[in-house]
Amino acid sequence: MLFMVYSTLLIDVDSDGIAIVTIDRPSKLNALNAEVLSELDDWFVIARDDSAVRGVIITGSGPKSFVAGADIAKFKDLSRETGKGFAEKGQAVFNRIENLGKPVIAAVNGFALGGGCELALACHLRVASDNARFAQPEVNLGILPGYGGTQRLPRLVGKGIATELILTGAMISAERAHEIGLVNHVFPPEGLLEGAKKLVASIISKAPIAVALSLEALGGSDTPLADGLRLEAELFGQACATADFQEGVDAFLEKRKADFKGK
Ligand code: COA
Repeated sequence: MLFMVYSTLLIDVDSDGIAIVTIDRPSKLNALNAEVLSELDDWFVIARDDSAVRGVIITGSGPKSFVAGADIAKFKDLSRETGKGFAEKGQAVFNRIENLGKPVIAAVNGFALGGGCELALACHLRVASDNARFAQPEVNLGILPGYGGTQRLPRLVGKGIATELILTGAMISAERAHEIGLVNHVFPPEGLLEGAKKLVASIISKAPIAVALSLEALGGSDTPLADGLRLEAELFGQACATADFQEGVDAFLEKRKADFKGK
């Protein structure tokens, strides 16, 4: 894992288990082509089962762009069939990111447009530099978001705001993205990665199974309430069967810091 080499991704895993995945096509503002998607897919498959990775930060190369969208240069040949497949492929990769079972944070360092905004939406949390810009500008090209934007954006920011963003294609600032809950924190550009790392570090200091089960339960918040509550109770039971739960309770009662083992 630590030695994986990709042509469109830079991977750096530190000794605390925080992996920084940098999408590295700065000359094209890190636009997502098939190779980027396939390399992301490959890495996230490996990262799921690699205990050296405890949390992930996704960012873009260079000072200007997180990801400026899917690669428009490849759009011309899309037909009804290939267009559907194109959307399904991106959706599958982003689902894999969302279902990693470990926290994934988007550190949005510039343009997050179209597929870039959708990539950020598939992450569990988003932080942004104060010069970041967000949009779902697909209507300008005669299409609609195809990598999950019409589904994840309204779930995150509400249907009214999502509808306006998707129908107008308007670009919004990091400040506005923060106001509507699209990003959790805004940092100056030079503090972005540090801010993202602190957030991941605070999560991975907790019991890993509890974090994974919380992510799974939060995924259920899109279902009818009764189904979500059933899922929550089931997962709560699973958490109670872990050694980390015993350790967490013992540590509290003994007034010491918990030593979680992920078991
Ligand atoms: N797909 C493919 N290439 C892209 C791209 C994308 N989504 N976004 C930017 N690029 C390329 C540009 O074509 C350009 O390549 P070139 O130097 O070979 O001509 C390079 O990245 C730099 O972009 P440029 O447009 O020159 O930068 P800018 O600062 O003038 O404008 C943007 C920045 C983001 C406003 C502009 O690039 C843009 O509108 N990009 C498309 C955004 C979009 O619609 N994304 C959603 C797609 S569904």
